[in-house]
Amino acid sequence: MYDTFEPKSLLPQEKVEFYRKNGFVQIHNVLTADELEELRDYMDEAMNSAQGMSTQTDQKGGSYYRVLNQRVNIWRDHAGMAKYTAHSRFAEMARQLVGTSGIRLFHDHALLKMPGDSKPTPWHQDLTYWPMNETGALSIWITLDDVDERNGCMMFIPGSRSIGKLNPISLVDPQDIFEYTKGTEHEHTKPVIVRMKAGSCTFHDGLTFHYAHANVTDNQRRVLAIIYMTDGTTYSGKSHTITNGLGLAVGEPIRGGLFPLLARA
Ligand code: SIN
Ligand code: NI
Repeated sequence: MYDTFEPKSLLPQEKVEFYRKNGFVQIHNVLTADELEELRDYMDEAMNSAQGMSTQTDQKGGSYYRVLNQRVNIWRDHAGMAKYTAHSRFAEMARQLVGTSGIRLFHDHALLKMPGDSKPTPWHQDLTYWPMNETGALSIWITLDDVDERNGCMMFIPGSRSIGKLNPISLVDPQDIFEYTKGTEHEHTKPVIVRMKAGSCTFHDGLTFHYAHANVTDNQRRVLAIIYMTDGTTYSGKSHTITNGLGLAVGEPIRGGLFPLLARA
C-alpha cells in the first residue's frame, strides 16, 4: 500500500527498475479511500467553478475538448487541489524513479474525458510540448475513477523513450508517431494497456509514447496529472502557457515559487 508512503519510504526496487527499463510504471493505491473522496470533491468543485487562475484549454463543443476537458494549473484555482499537487508523497516517488536529488513541480492539470463524442488521446510524447532543454521530466497520472478501455485508460510503448525527442504531435489532428519506429527496435513493440482502480496511478517519462482511449461510458473520467522536472532543468525558450510572460532567459533553471522543490534527497 502506497497511501502510507512517506518521504523516507523506499519504493520497491522492482518498481524503480521497471520504470527505468520501460519508461512508465503503475502503482496501486497511492490515495487512501478518504483522500480519494476528498480529491474527487475538490476536483469537481474546481472544475465546476468559472473563477480561477488556471488555463482552460478548450470550451465544450471544441475539438480539443472532445479529447480532453483540461485545466492547466488547477492548483492555482483551489487550495485543496494544491494540497495534492504539491504533496511530497508523489514527488518523492518521482524522485526515486528518476534517481535524482531534487524534484520540482512544472505544472498540474485536470484531465477529464467527457462522455459523449469522446475522442482518444492520440499517441504522443509529452516532452515535445515542454520548454525544457533536458530530459527526465515525467508525469504522475492519478485516476479518480476506475479506468479501462471503455472510459480512457492509458497505453504505453515500453522502452520507446530510447527513440528520442520527436516533433510534437497535434492532439486533435494527429500525425502517425509510429512512422518514427520503422526500422528501430520498437517497430513491433506491443502497447501495454494499463487498467486501474480509482486512487491508483501511473508515472511516465516525458519521452515515452502513450495514448488514452476514448470515453464511451456515460460518466466522466477524472484524472489529476502532475508534471515534475528534475531540479536544475533549464528553460529552452519554447512557447508554453506555463512559462510565457515570466521573463525567463533561455538556459536559466526553471525554479522559484511557481515551480517549487517538492522532494529532495
Ligand atoms: C489522457 O489523460 O487522456 C492523456 C494523458 C497524457 O497524455 O499524459
Ligand atoms: Ni501525454
